[in-house]
Amino acid sequence: MQRAYCTVFALIISISFAFADNLSANNWSSDDDTLPEMLPKKMRDKSDEEIQKAVFQAYENQLKVISEYSGHMLDPESPYGFFKDEMPITNARTSNPQSDLIFYNNAIRGFIGYNKNSIIIKWAPNQVVTEIGWKELSVRGRYTFVNSSYFDQGKYHIQLQDIKYLASTTFSENTESYPSTAPKSSISYKNIKVSFTGGLPEVLKISDSSNVKHFVEDIVFQQVADRVVIDTHKNITLAIRQVIKPYIMIKNDTDQNFPGTNGKLPSSSVGYSISNTVISGLANSENKIKKVTAKMVTNTVTIDLRTATHSLDGKFDFKLEESKPTVGKATFTISRIDVSISFNILKPVECKSEVVVNQPNVKYGTKLSADIEKTLTNAFIDNVKIQLSTNVCKAIGQMIKPGK
Ligand SMILES: *[C@@H]1O[C@H](CO)[C@@H](O)[C@H](O)[C@H]1NC(C)=O
Ligand SMILES: *[C@@H]1O[C@H](CO)[C@@H](O)[C@H](O)[C@H]1NC(C)=O
Ligand SMILES: *[C@@H]1O[C@H](CO)[C@@H](O)[C@H](O)[C@H]1NC(C)=O
Ligand SMILES: *[C@@H]1O[C@H](CO)[C@@H](O)[C@H](O)[C@H]1NC(C)=O
Ligand SMILES: *[C@@H]1O[C@H](CO)[C@@H](O)[C@H](O)[C@H]1NC(C)=O
Repeated sequence: MQRAYCTVFALIISISFAFADNLSANNWSSDDDTLPEMLPKKMRDKSDEEIQKAVFQAYENQLKVISEYSGHMLDPESPYGFFKDEMPITNARTSNPQSDLIFYNNAIRGFIGYNKNSIIIKWAPNQVVTEIGWKELSVRGRYTFVNSSYFDQGKYHIQLQDIKYLASTTFSENTESYPSTAPKSSISYKNIKVSFTGGLPEVLKISDSSNVKHFVEDIVFQQVADRVVIDTHKNITLAIRQVIKPYIMIKNDTDQNFPGTNGKLPSSSVGYSISNTVISGLANSENKIKKVTAKMVTNTVTIDLRTATHSLDGKFDFKLEESKPTVGKATFTISRIDVSISFNILKPVECKSEVVVNQPNVKYGTKLSADIEKTLTNAFIDNVKIQLSTNVCKAIGQMIKPGK
């Protein structure tokens, strides 16, 4: 897959340029210090067993996300999610031992005016941390105040300043286990000012009014937190797709550019070539981490991976350079390709891979002798093995970040 991987990397480079704009707009980033390959150095004082366990867990989470998009990276991306500027807040009757304060027709505004919106992918802890900041959000509505000696009604205005939403969701299983709620403590703020059009005094310190405090910090913040966690899901999905892109070796289910090969027919000087190879079914794969072996004393943390890709098919063109060249087409099926990879995450040039092509079946559209068919079929299979095994290690070498 030499050329396929080159295409893949050319694509990564062009994608990272293409996303340069989105990167600033969407403002996501990857905390590279939390990549699995960074763990061993951070855990220097820990035992090999503890490092193995931590790297296994971190790599497994990463592999879950890789598997989700492997063979599907070129599928259309989900669109951005957007805030609505305003949201209604339910009516609420707040009471304390001396009085009741009822809030109704409530709405909070200002969501689109955020001054910070960042999504940070934290690999090893398997988290996506989202932080959104607003200079001001404002809640307006009507109120009724009652105590034993006083009754007041009118409009209220709550101004909240320097509000922050800070929450984390899981990195792997972003689709499956994305929360539908976030704790109200995800929302914090610096200042509050509450005014009432009737006779109630202004509130400038939240501790001065337990009714207002309960309404704002328990009721409003819970509803806002739930709303923000839902509104940010699409952007988080986009951030995850972008951050995982460099780690996806198989971008598409179909590889239209699988490299060709050539050689000579045995005991003759007739050359042959295989070209225009297309392979489909690359998405039918299972990728698993088998084990992690750490030996920090030799600076080795070996990861053993295996991938099984089932039910592949495709076609190629062939040519025999006889005095009158024979040109033809072939179709093939492969029941399964197994790839075993073993690499040192601290020094990825130490990488081995082994490829087994199971039950290949090639059909030629042109009548050929059995010997020639056998030669072409073997050349095709050997080429698949060589391309995959050399390029898997090359790709791993390029994606593992060098330790600091
Ligand atoms: C930004 O992202 C959207 C959706 O992912 C994509 O359609 C668009 O081409 C990207 N823009 C740039 C400049 O890369
Ligand atoms: C999602 O990202 C887009 C593009 O950066 C941004 O305009 C929008 O406000 C973001 N939405 C949320 C809910 O953060
Ligand atoms: C983007 O994220 C960075 C890093 O978290 C932060 O410092 C910056 O304020 C963010 N910018 C916006 C517009 O959200
Ligand atoms: C009732 O509320 C008003 C307005 O806050 C206050 O001035 C008054 O002292 C309260 N009365 C009692 C009995 O608590
Ligand atoms: C991805 O594969 C589909 C068929 O599965 C094909 O139609 C499409 O052209 C491929 N895209 C790229 C960019 O290779």
